[in-house]
Parts: sequence; structure tokens; C-alpha cells
Amino acid sequence: MATNNDMILRTRFAERLCHWAIVFCFFLAAVSGISWFFPTVSWMSGFLGTPQMARLLHPFLGIAVFVGLCYMFGRFVGYNLPARTDAIWFRRVRDVLLNRHGGEPLRIGKYNAGQKILFWLIMASILALLITGLIMWRAYFAEYFPIPVLRLAILAHSVAGIGLILLIVGHIYLAIWVRGSITGMVTGYVSRAWARQHHDRWYGEVKAKEGKKVEAKGSGS
Ligand code: HEM
Repeated sequence: MATNNDMILRTRFAERLCHWAIVFCFFLAAVSGISWFFPTVSWMSGFLGTPQMARLLHPFLGIAVFVGLCYMFGRFVGYNLPARTDAIWFRRVRDVLLNRHGGEPLRIGKYNAGQKILFWLIMASILALLITGLIMWRAYFAEYFPIPVLRLAILAHSVAGIGLILLIVGHIYLAIWVRGSITGMVTGYVSRAWARQHHDRWYGEVKAKEGKKVEAKGSGS
């Protein structure tokens, strides 16, 4: 059983709030989008009250997801840049997936190479969705574009939308699979054992910072 001392901060309150607000808006935007794409699930537009309401709210929900992801981008981009040590994760991905520990340290930073790829794909998809979504938004902008451009935008919007939904399904699967990470996104805290096991290089950095703080306190007293 982990005590308070065993827990370390992984995700700040504002970042968590933003993440779960994105989840809420993304869910509603995704179900309304899917409801227009596959006629057999047209009932899904009912999640937003009526089909008319879904039509009206979908673009605004999409913009909310984009704005939330801009904040996440600003907060997390530094941790998602490629690092030399990512090569070790790729080389040992089989061990990671089979939960086999030991041997050469994986030297994983705050996010592993798989999470980094997902991060960039999510950001690229939302940008594509925003641009194509604005072009095809009948209420405001669609009239400024010729029909062939609108057709292309609708096609690209559908591909990016389905792509992003599939990425998020993968993201949720991995979050469930790596036990303790959802608790981290809910409470903000993860255990030291979790950090050491899944993000060893990041844990080393956290410990180094803690050491510096203790030193500073010691020299101050
Ligand atoms: C029920 C749905 C979701 C669950 C359970 C979930 C879970 C999580 C968890 C546990 C983390 C932290 C991972 C870690 O600390 O290592 C995380 C991070 C993140 N999530 Fe989600 N998530 C969900 C939906 C979404 C959606 C819909 C988006 C965006 C459209 C999203 C975008 C992100 C991003 C950008 C990060 C930061 C990862 C990084 O910087 O590499 N998530 N999520």
C-alpha cells in the first residue's frame, strides 16, 4: 500500500482539468460526427439532444477540443520531442509490451516513444480537422470556397476524424493497460514504483530535483 511519501506529482491540476474537459467535448463531437457518417448509428446524434442541436454544436465542440489541445501542446511539447534514448524503447518494444523487466535500463523520459508518436499524430489530426472543418462550416465559411475544395475538405475531415477516433481508442487501451496511469491523470499522483518502472529517466530527474530542494533547505537553515 503506497503512503503519501511514495507518491510523486505527474500531472498538474490545470493540465488534468484540461485533459478531462477535452475528453468530454471530444466524446460529444466524435459521436455526432460518427452519427452522420454511418446511417445505422444516426441515433447517436441524440447524445446532444436533437439532430439539429448536434449539427449546431459539433463545430463548437471541435473548436473546444482544438483550444484544449493547444494548451496541452504548450504544456507537454517539451516532453514529446525525440530523444536519443527513444531508440532503446523501439529496440526493446517487445519486452515493454510483454511487461518483461530487467536488463538494460529503458531510459524513458516523462513520456515513452510510443506516447510521443501518439502525441504528434493527435496534434496533426486536430489541426487537419480544424482547417477542413472551418472550410466546410456552412454557417460561416463554406460559401467562400468552390465546390471541389468543399468536397476535398469533407473527405479529408472524415479521414482525419476517423483517424483521430482510432488513435484515441489506442490511447485509452494503453492507458488502461498501463495500470496506475489513469489514476495519475485523475489524482495527479503516481507511485514511485510506477515512475521507476515505466519512466525511469523521468523518475531520476524528479529525484535529482528533490535532492536539490533538500540541499537548498539544509543550506538555508
Ligand atoms: C476516456 C478517455 C481517455 C483516457 C482514459 C485518457 C487517459 C490518459 C492518461 C492516463 C494520460 C497520462 C499518461 C501518462 O501519464 O503517462 C493521458 C495523457 C494525454 N491524453 Fe488522454 N485519455 C483519454 C482521452 C483523450 C483524448 C480524447 C485526447 C485528445 C483528443 C487525449 C489527449 C491526451 C494527451 C495529449 C496526453 C498527454 C500525452 C503526452 O504528452 O504524450 N486523451 N491520457
